[in-house]
Amino acid sequence: MSTGVDYAQEIQELKRSMNAVILAHYYQESEVQDVADFVGDSLALAQAAERTEADVIVFCGVHFMAETAKILNPARLVLLPDLKAGCSLSDRCPPAAFKAFKDKHPGAFVVSYVNSSAAVKAMSDVICTSSNAVKIVNQVPKDRQILFAPDQHLGRHVMKQTGRDMVLWPGSCIVHEIFSEKKLVELKVMHPDAEVVAHPECEEPVLRHADFIGSTKGILDFVLKSPKQKFIVVTEAGILHQMKKGAPEKTFIPAPPDNGCACNECPYMRLNTLEKLWKCMKERTPELTMPEGLREAARAPLQRMLEWSR
Ligand code: 13P
Ligand code: SF4
Repeated sequence: MSTGVDYAQEIQELKRSMNAVILAHYYQESEVQDVADFVGDSLALAQAAERTEADVIVFCGVHFMAETAKILNPARLVLLPDLKAGCSLSDRCPPAAFKAFKDKHPGAFVVSYVNSSAAVKAMSDVICTSSNAVKIVNQVPKDRQILFAPDQHLGRHVMKQTGRDMVLWPGSCIVHEIFSEKKLVELKVMHPDAEVVAHPECEEPVLRHADFIGSTKGILDFVLKSPKQKFIVVTEAGILHQMKKGAPEKTFIPAPPDNGCACNECPYMRLNTLEKLWKCMKERTPELTMPEGLREAARAPLQRMLEWSR
């Protein structure tokens, strides 16, 4: 039912009156991406949050992303349209179990993927994202054993790229583990002229078929620059919006999950809607908050990531 409110227009006005910046991830629905000041992958969003001078950061992404913005910006108001926008990877790495895992490997260097809670980050030596994981792991002192959490598939990919052995936390993402190798092969047979691009959170048998493996931003840049005209895209379907905007003449085929569902959409990301974005700006809530001690402890490994990424 239409409410008669022009959300996009009102959001622009609220943005000006609040001195707010809207940061959005590529997995947000198209209309949310279109009102954002900046759309990016996890690393670019953290960097944008680090350098912003706006009074209010409105984060259209999932909880750990908004949490990262707050860790880097304690004095700014950070809003998340739906606080329930979590992440299966982060949920599959509870802090108490992670502490027990860490205690079993005294002296190890802990690299945590940004898709983790502030409590897990606080127990880590450095954070990484899918776009800088290889670069970060390559900078870990050679004499240290590495623990990598929580995504085992990204971990395995990084081990291959760096030649470093790592002890992996057995986590995975419900969206990326749903892609079917069998259906991907069928699509490749139907479209032999297409290049396959995939996110490193996909399982190894799927990644084996990829011509390019990278973060959402890496994948986007690859398809825009490639001389090829057709791509099979193996990640969350929200990324197709920027692909179609950047190269309307090219063909993008979303890889199918192992059944007929829409489960190549992240159910957490999709909790943020244009209406909830407007409402959260109007009411200045829900706000992302965290205890100062936890924020300070999580800041050090995050700051190290930003320094090691430069
Ligand atoms: P990117 O850092 O590649 O944007 O990935 C974030 C994410 O949650 C992928 O599922
Ligand atoms: Fe988390 Fe997967 Fe959603 Fe990314 S796609 S936010 S890893 S649940």
